[in-house]
Amino acid sequence: MKQIILVLLAIVIVISLVVATFTIDQVSREDQRLKSDLQYRSTLLAESLKETVEPNFINKSEDYLQNVVKRFTDKERFAGLGIYDNKGQAIAISSVIPEATSAAQAIIANAMDEDKANGDFTKFQNKKVYLLAVPLHDEKSVVGALMIVQNAGYIDDRITEIWKNNLIRLLVQTTLLSLAVLLLIRWIIFVPIKSLVETLKLARSGTLKQHSKKLTNSFLFGPLINEVTSIGRSLTEARFSASEEARMRLEKLDSPWTSQRLKEFIKDTLKNRSIFMVSNREPYIHTKNGGKINYFFPASGMATAIEPVMQATGGMWIAHGSGDADRLVVDKQNKIKVPPDEPKYTLKRVWLTGGEENGYYFGFSNEGLWPLCHIAHTRPTFRKEDWEQYKKVNQKFADSVLSEIKTLERPIVLIQDFHLALVPRMIKTQKPSATVGLFWHIPWPNPESFSICPWKKEILDGMLGADLLGFHTQLHCNNFIETVGRELESLIDFERFTITKNSHISYIKPFPISISFPNGFEKAKDEIDKDEKEKLLKGLGIKTKYIGLGIDRLDYTKGILERFKAIEIFLTKYPQYQNTFTFIQIAAPSRTKVKKYRDFAVEVEKETQRINSQFKIKDWKPIVLLEKHHSHAEIQKFYRATDFCLVTSLHDGMNLVAKEYVASRYDEKGVLILSQYTGASRELKDALIINPYNGEQTAGAIKEALEMKMPEQVKRMQEMREMVKNYKFRVINNGFMERFRQNYCLF
Ligand code: G6P
Repeated sequence: MKQIILVLLAIVIVISLVVATFTIDQVSREDQRLKSDLQYRSTLLAESLKETVEPNFINKSEDYLQNVVKRFTDKERFAGLGIYDNKGQAIAISSVIPEATSAAQAIIANAMDEDKANGDFTKFQNKKVYLLAVPLHDEKSVVGALMIVQNAGYIDDRITEIWKNNLIRLLVQTTLLSLAVLLLIRWIIFVPIKSLVETLKLARSGTLKQHSKKLTNSFLFGPLINEVTSIGRSLTEARFSASEEARMRLEKLDSPWTSQRLKEFIKDTLKNRSIFMVSNREPYIHTKNGGKINYFFPASGMATAIEPVMQATGGMWIAHGSGDADRLVVDKQNKIKVPPDEPKYTLKRVWLTGGEENGYYFGFSNEGLWPLCHIAHTRPTFRKEDWEQYKKVNQKFADSVLSEIKTLERPIVLIQDFHLALVPRMIKTQKPSATVGLFWHIPWPNPESFSICPWKKEILDGMLGADLLGFHTQLHCNNFIETVGRELESLIDFERFTITKNSHISYIKPFPISISFPNGFEKAKDEIDKDEKEKLLKGLGIKTKYIGLGIDRLDYTKGILERFKAIEIFLTKYPQYQNTFTFIQIAAPSRTKVKKYRDFAVEVEKETQRINSQFKIKDWKPIVLLEKHHSHAEIQKFYRATDFCLVTSLHDGMNLVAKEYVASRYDEKGVLILSQYTGASRELKDALIINPYNGEQTAGAIKEALEMKMPEQVKRMQEMREMVKNYKFRVINNGFMERFRQNYCLF
């Protein structure tokens, strides 16, 4: 604005100067013209009067002369006349003329002295007049003078009028010109420049393409706009190639997945599309503790794998609010920002009635689907009532998701696990534009095993609502495809691993899940001193040289009884380890409302007592059973204090305990003994791989672990740590999204 005022000011000054110069010139010409005209007319008049007065002037009476004067007075512009003797004394004079003014005297005297007409402009009574005196002769000598007086005021009036007119003209001109300039600046300069700035901004922010119609075309800046537009496009392309390059770098398997890398990857991949994670288990459970409200992180492989992803990406996680203080901490929409100490994403809680939880979670999910998929020789139980609740609760979760995504363009919904098998179809039917993924965190059995489920077709159809179905291993993918092939009418493409049902394609791919590395297992963060092992043992009230560790939910699929049996065999076969070796079993209580879990917990306790009473010597016992939930931080101490970690799952999708153990051993010591029936055994090949049903083999592996030389331990641990760190097998969710985008162009 300031600049515009300056421009206008300059314009006004220049125009004023020009107008002033021309006016001065015009005025002086007009002045000259009027004056010469007056002088000319005065001379003519004086000459004609002279002819009347001059003959026989000396003899003419005063009355005669006065009559002459009277006759010529009061004519237009003619103010008067005077007749003077040779001494300059007035003989006859018009009344309007003062008798003598010094100016008149001088003019008359000069005319007579010079003997020629003499005139000049002067003022009589503040009025401009022109005086012209001519000498009067008698024969040859000057005998007097005649002076005429002409009104010259009109000359000044005319000059003033010229100035006035020119000033008005100047005013009108400058106003119109300023307006024109303003309009020109606005339409020809300001708008296109604003548009240019906008273009550059868009180019800078990388959104030029989408907004290119915003550009204003202007004849003046047209070529410039075109140029800037192409620069913008080049910039967008450059940015795209840079991000592609970065993505390629990110995808290189030799760089570790960090939370930052994941964040960049997601930003690049999702381009602001919103993520909705859906699971039964919530990542933070609030409980009442006396008068206080506490929260804890559940013992769930699913939650462990997904939580770091949500922390990196933000978005919303919809899950069952299962804590007794969960309702007390949410807002009106049942939402709470988590992690509670450092909020990064939103947790939306879904409430279930006791009946719903019993039927859907304990019943159909944990007594039906869980044993069905695990094939751990525990018979599944299928009840119609449980199935009804399962359907109802799946719809409840779907509705909760749909209420969040109804106005979004292309939301991404990632559904987790066997509790929510029907949700993909429910969402896809209501919101076809949503990209839906379902990840199955547990194994998928062979078609024969799955075929016993009474609602197998409904479950398969519900799952096939997803655009992408993920399992931990290729074997589980194959099992699923074969199951669908056997149970449903569909088109299966074994080359692309797709199933097409009712024109909708579902991609079936393996995505082995993992943990974030180092996941808090860093030396720098470690507050434990060198005596951590002693402190830990002291705290547990045990004395021993070697420690073995097992960490599991108290679940029959984890092979805890088989593990204890192997320890019994080991101590029997190698008695030198009695009194020097203790196995610590951390067992987090799980699904305790399910009878099989309660029975199993009792069995584990009994087996512990039996083996302990068999080998117990004074204050030494072979098995320490810690039957309670341990926090992440507490578990770390155990991981690092032990000589080996024993994972003996009878069937496990992945088993993240194995990966956490490896991640925690930044000292590169310790041995992992791993069941061949875990997904993790396909990746951690430097573990001692065992068949948990083979007690002798497991006992041998325990001996091997305890006697393994340090260089060998370090070599194996280094290899496994590299594997987890570099994540050659891709974390479920980033791998998941990568496939979404790369293979199926869903992003
Ligand atoms: C497995 C399942 C998870 C589940 C976890 C703990 O890892 O795949 O979905 O969260 O077990 O079980 P819970 O029933 O306590 O959630």
